[in-house]
Amino acid sequence: MTISEAGAHVGQSVTFGCWLTRRRSSGKIQFLQLRDGTGFIQGVLTKEEVSEEVWDHAGRLTQESSLYVTGIVREDPRGKSGYELAVTGLEIIQITQDYPITPKEHGVDFLMDHRHLWLRAPRQRAIMRIRARIISAVQQFFDENGFTLVDPPILTPSSAEGTTELFHIKYFDEDAYLTQSGQLYMEAAAMALGKVYSFGPTFRAEKSKTRRHLIEFWMIEPEMAFVDHEENLRIQERFVSHVVSQVLEHCRPELETLERDIAALERVKPPFPRITYDEAIRMLQELGMELPWGEDFGAPHETALAGKFDRPIFITHYPKGIKAFYMKPDPKRPEVVLCADMIAPEGYGEIIGGSQRIDDPELMAERFKEHHLSPEAYQWYLDLRRYGTVPHSGFGLGLERTVSWICGLDHVRETIAFPRMLYRLYP
Ligand code: 4AD
Ligand code: MG
Repeated sequence: MTISEAGAHVGQSVTFGCWLTRRRSSGKIQFLQLRDGTGFIQGVLTKEEVSEEVWDHAGRLTQESSLYVTGIVREDPRGKSGYELAVTGLEIIQITQDYPITPKEHGVDFLMDHRHLWLRAPRQRAIMRIRARIISAVQQFFDENGFTLVDPPILTPSSAEGTTELFHIKYFDEDAYLTQSGQLYMEAAAMALGKVYSFGPTFRAEKSKTRRHLIEFWMIEPEMAFVDHEENLRIQERFVSHVVSQVLEHCRPELETLERDIAALERVKPPFPRITYDEAIRMLQELGMELPWGEDFGAPHETALAGKFDRPIFITHYPKGIKAFYMKPDPKRPEVVLCADMIAPEGYGEIIGGSQRIDDPELMAERFKEHHLSPEAYQWYLDLRRYGTVPHSGFGLGLERTVSWICGLDHVRETIAFPRMLYRLYP
């Protein structure tokens, strides 16, 4: 049995492996807080009812000691889990000495150094459960909407987004880079399969030390043939709303552990407000945050803009100079591109970057020149415009930023089991 299955075993004698999180005793009775990874149950022993050996064993248990426990499951309407265990037997696996993470407050650096143990804390387990649910909701959405999962490579010969933030490695005698984005490969896959998505790790050697940046993060990248800018946004708002609704449906206890404002999540329903880059610049001006046209938004700008709305927003039509080379110019205004960033509410910043892609072979060749990209390295990518080019669009959702927002966390470092950050590669 696991603790999560206790309800199906009321009145029965069960045995399971677990850890002790806390022990209390009041003379003739001991209370053991037990966890097995699936849940919590309180074990109760009374001195009169158990053997002297079992009573003594229980008294030796320290925080994070491991054991097999045997007992009768009882209903306990007052208890947090609804059940308790009348302990009859104990087999100690290990008595733990000096567990470093005690119930007192620890600093973040200390906790990050002990991330391998910190993961056992209730908050951290709640976050990992929500992350897993977000991943399954993502897969469910795309699988049910006609997309095929395709895995782009992690080792690549060149960059997808820019050349400065790449991790360089040796690939035998050649140079290689860890992928920053699978997008270009997903464009090839979309020409083969219509609607595709990827889910994998991406790497950015960014010297950014903010609450929103990781060096290694996971990205979901859909790419769709015959889909234009407008439809791209409609898919994104449906997608993100689906993910949030799945978390609300399946992760109530975890959201409560995190003390997340549920009402804020319940508002996440399409349509999401849309503002153009130009409108955003004007709104910032009104807020006293002057920004010259043509410059990119920083985190404070995004937070200020998002603060005017109660759900995620799209900022569309950015100047082409601050966006990636492959974005399609707006035919009505070629100085801006058919792109959108989705900005999460409550100050969580950009969670999606996406666009319609250039499909015209001549224009793509021109962009290659402007960006000094070598046509040889990207021959295969240019082939996609040469052999049956079609209008197509896609986007990338950053998993950790999404987890951070949905969980209501202060920092992205808690959204992944072992974060890789500017100054952290351990554990
Ligand atoms: O906006 P970005 O750079 O877009 C792309 O990589 C496109 N190729 C995606 C596509 O169209 N297929 O990154 C997409 C998202 C961001 O919105 C953000 O959520 C996340 O990836 N992201 C990061 N998350 C954590 N740490 C970082 N350093 C991140 N950089 C981007
Ligand atoms: Mg972006």
